[in-house]
Amino acid sequence: MFCRVFAFRSVLEFQQRFEREKPLLIELAPSILSADFGRLAEQVQAAVEGGATLLHVDVMDGHFVPNLTIGPPVVKSLRKATPVPFDVHLMIENPDQYISAFVDAGADWISIHQEATVHLHRTLELIKSHDVLAGVVINPATPVETLSDILYLVDYVLVMSVNPGFGAQKFIPHSLDKLQKLAGMRSEQRLNFRIEIDGGVALDTITKIVRAGAEVLVAGNAVFGKGDPKANVQSLIKAASEARLQRV
Ligand code: DX5
Ligand code: ZN
Repeated sequence: MFCRVFAFRSVLEFQQRFEREKPLLIELAPSILSADFGRLAEQVQAAVEGGATLLHVDVMDGHFVPNLTIGPPVVKSLRKATPVPFDVHLMIENPDQYISAFVDAGADWISIHQEATVHLHRTLELIKSHDVLAGVVINPATPVETLSDILYLVDYVLVMSVNPGFGAQKFIPHSLDKLQKLAGMRSEQRLNFRIEIDGGVALDTITKIVRAGAEVLVAGNAVFGKGDPKANVQSLIKAASEARLQRV
């Protein structure tokens, strides 16, 4: 082990080799928003068989976003259907009131919107106090720089690449710049939060998204919109892995 390390001419050379050889960290998180809710467990299991390692759960309250979805009881039922971690994306006002209910229901990752939270630091601390991963989400119009002073506290940052509220919308290209900026801020601050993207992730956008630095890819319509969720997940992971391998 040591001989191998000392065989490199410099620390930089070692880091560059490590960077090239480290395992792929890309994860695909199917969003159940586009699933057939009458066959939810079956559809989720198909997506997991295809290689999904995380399940994205969109929670909407009809106030922060103009749509309503699900609450803790559905998360609790779904918990019995699959062992994969649940990435719960709260698009709700007053998220502090509901965090413990989602943890009790089985959430493993919980993210809150910067725009929906007055005391972002306090809410992130509250999530972390429950021993689940804490994430912050930003809408397309919110600059990544607004997160600069809070990045040290988060496990992941979720960049919305559509306006939250609905599935199957068109990817907003400016999100790619935001991913790159975030990756830059992460290395400047020597942090290791993960970068997630949500909205319009599909076979025609995934290569650019991965090359811009996203590591956790949420996909709703591209997984559950049409065809077989298992095959759709496989194709998306294949495209993402190829893009990752081509990154320079
Ligand atoms: C939108 C949700 C997304 C949505 C993404 O508010 O946060 O998770 O399911 O859907 P697609 O992948 O169809 O754009
Ligand atoms: Zn989402």
